[in-house]
Amino acid sequence: MASPARPTPRTSSASVDVLVVGGGIIGLTAAWRALRAGSRVTVVDPDPGGGATHAAAGMLAPVSEAEHGEHGLARVNVASAALWSGFARELTAASGVDVGLAASGTLTVAYDAADAQRCRDLLALQRSWGLDVHEVTSAEARERVPLLGPHLGAATWAAGEQHVDPRAVVRALRAVLGRDARARVVPAAAAGLVRDGRGDVVGVRTADGGTLRADLVVLAAGARSADVVRDVPEVAVPVRPVVGTTLRLDARAAPWFAGLPVLRGTVQHRPVYLVPRASGEVVVGATSDEGAAQDGTRSGDVFALLRDARALVPGIDELPLVDVTTRARPATPDHLPLVGHSGVPGLLLATGHHRNGVLQTPLTAATLDALLAGTDPPDAARPCDPQRMLTRTAPTTSGGPA
Ligand code: GLY
Repeated sequence: MASPARPTPRTSSASVDVLVVGGGIIGLTAAWRALRAGSRVTVVDPDPGGGATHAAAGMLAPVSEAEHGEHGLARVNVASAALWSGFARELTAASGVDVGLAASGTLTVAYDAADAQRCRDLLALQRSWGLDVHEVTSAEARERVPLLGPHLGAATWAAGEQHVDPRAVVRALRAVLGRDARARVVPAAAAGLVRDGRGDVVGVRTADGGTLRADLVVLAAGARSADVVRDVPEVAVPVRPVVGTTLRLDARAAPWFAGLPVLRGTVQHRPVYLVPRASGEVVVGATSDEGAAQDGTRSGDVFALLRDARALVPGIDELPLVDVTTRARPATPDHLPLVGHSGVPGLLLATGHHRNGVLQTPLTAATLDALLAGTDPPDAARPCDPQRMLTRTAPTTSGGPA
């Protein structure tokens, strides 16, 4: 009996200059920067833009997300936040897509007395790091967000914080790639890396049995990154999934939401945030689960997010719930990303951005620009150098509040 014919791999191709594994905001940005640098680029991802970026609320919150033990991370975040307006301007000019960048400020509120104590503790920490945030009275908080509910233990205001629409950023990046003949997006999953006789990385194996070859591979596969490099033991990519759910509410019939700042809160120890956009969307987020399976959304998570969000802003009860998205954030042991040389020729890393993928996109782009040009990355990106992981071993466990 004749043996069955082997299926023809769909994804084999001639070599390109740069192959990006992962089509989230980081991978698509890497591809854009490589194109800008004159390279031919392929992005490989089974669902470009459909991973963690699809869940992200797009808060650019280096101040109000600053936590104990994360001073280095806060510095990286502040540096990247400062690059966002230039990055958005350039991307919009290249794509014709408005990415919804808004300089709204962030109001952080505490629900009860214990939440207020934690809020003031964090405020003292953030101010000791020189961050631009201060306490406001209840009256001032209600002036900024008139929809606040009756419980208000304390409030702080971070005037410089912004937000952006991550799904619009993906549309913009895809538009740029889509109109450039040197760029290709391959809808396939990467199963592993291809190495030559010297051990250099020269491409990617795809799950359908194909291979894609390139002079340089950029690993930007988010929470899947450790899987992709598991056959390359010299490379340390200690990325673990931290699963989060976000909800999207439709406030187009309630236009007073659109002009509000980002609202963060702690409700009886649980963090929650609401990000109102000019488009009429309100994003409510986010859960943060270490080790949770990412195979759907738990109803209890949706319940808890809505319960806590309505404790802060009771008026959300009236808004249609139009989207529930659960995805895995890629977290590293120190919660800083891995952006730089992997240590193996042919492989760069741009992964592990945890809660800060959208915020850290411009600094990651600037780092990749430098690496592609053979120059030194910006000083602010030094803490993100993957070489720091070679001296580390076990991951820590805390995911931190969203
Ligand atoms: N940066 C917000 C989150 O990850 O939920």
